[in-house]
Amino acid sequence: MSHNLQLNVEGKLKHFLTIDGLDKALLTEILDIAESFAEMSGHHVKKVPLLRGKTIVNLFFENSTRTRTTFELAAKRLSADVISMNIATSATSKGESLLDTIRNLEAMFVDMFVVRHGTSGAAHFIAEHTAPHISVINAGDGRHSHPTQAMLDMFTIRQFKPDFSTLRVAIIGDILHSRVARSQILALNTLGAAEVRVIAPKTLLPAHVQTLGVTVCHNLTEGLKDIDVIIMLRLQKERMTSALLPSENEYFKCFGLTPEKLEIAKPDAIVMHPGPINRGVEIDTRVADGPQSVILRQVSNGIAIRMAVMSMAMQTQGAV
Ligand code: CP
Repeated sequence: MSHNLQLNVEGKLKHFLTIDGLDKALLTEILDIAESFAEMSGHHVKKVPLLRGKTIVNLFFENSTRTRTTFELAAKRLSADVISMNIATSATSKGESLLDTIRNLEAMFVDMFVVRHGTSGAAHFIAEHTAPHISVINAGDGRHSHPTQAMLDMFTIRQFKPDFSTLRVAIIGDILHSRVARSQILALNTLGAAEVRVIAPKTLLPAHVQTLGVTVCHNLTEGLKDIDVIIMLRLQKERMTSALLPSENEYFKCFGLTPEKLEIAKPDAIVMHPGPINRGVEIDTRVADGPQSVILRQVSNGIAIRMAVMSMAMQTQGAV
């Protein structure tokens, strides 16, 4: 096993747990492979037999609409057998440990786990403890990482703005609780973006955020100048342990993206959001549904990116 748990001895992707430690060549390979799968979406028959005979289990310990559904669709389009477990009705609710759940599923000859969990590091923990032939894909762990979301975001950006080296990207909102923002910052810096700017009130930024390789701004009107790509984030109230904001109304006034504020960015700027969106809290409905929004394109691209990652990880099976 290589020092990076995610890579096999040949440096190929075995698990996909975090963007951290992956180089530009590997991220670009994921985007390029996804490109060929995205082209397939327009075909009458959208399936390929790449993962025929493989068994994939979706283990979502947290709620999801986009990630869970696109992982399931991606597995089906690769011809894998896929099971999405309903954790609420599984034996976890009777006190079974995470590791015991994994061991029991392994006994059913599973080839891959796709895991979403509220605890940071959960997917990594499973990858460390699962049988060597099984791949683990992180579908979001706590505040830590959401690597396939970041890659589908990079894929969407590349469709509209192919040269990362010229791009100024603003990530706006609740950076503190966002695993998506952490993964996006890593991916954008690895792909060579000219600037990653975070715009948020001080209470919604992690301590020492500059060390992540970003510039920091606390004022949306100032921060949107010269921006090519705007990424809005939801306020993650379910992860807030204390009141970090005066009110949602006040937040919208200061940090909500309205058509007037959008005009400050470059005229061809695109507007992104990983979802779920909260209209009138971080984004005005006219912007969310407006001509510069690529939010639903992000959702569609999730299928191609997840097909790419799953097929790459399965190709390395046997070479640990
Ligand atoms: N972006 C995202 O992770 O959405 P879901 O929570 O619906 O999967």
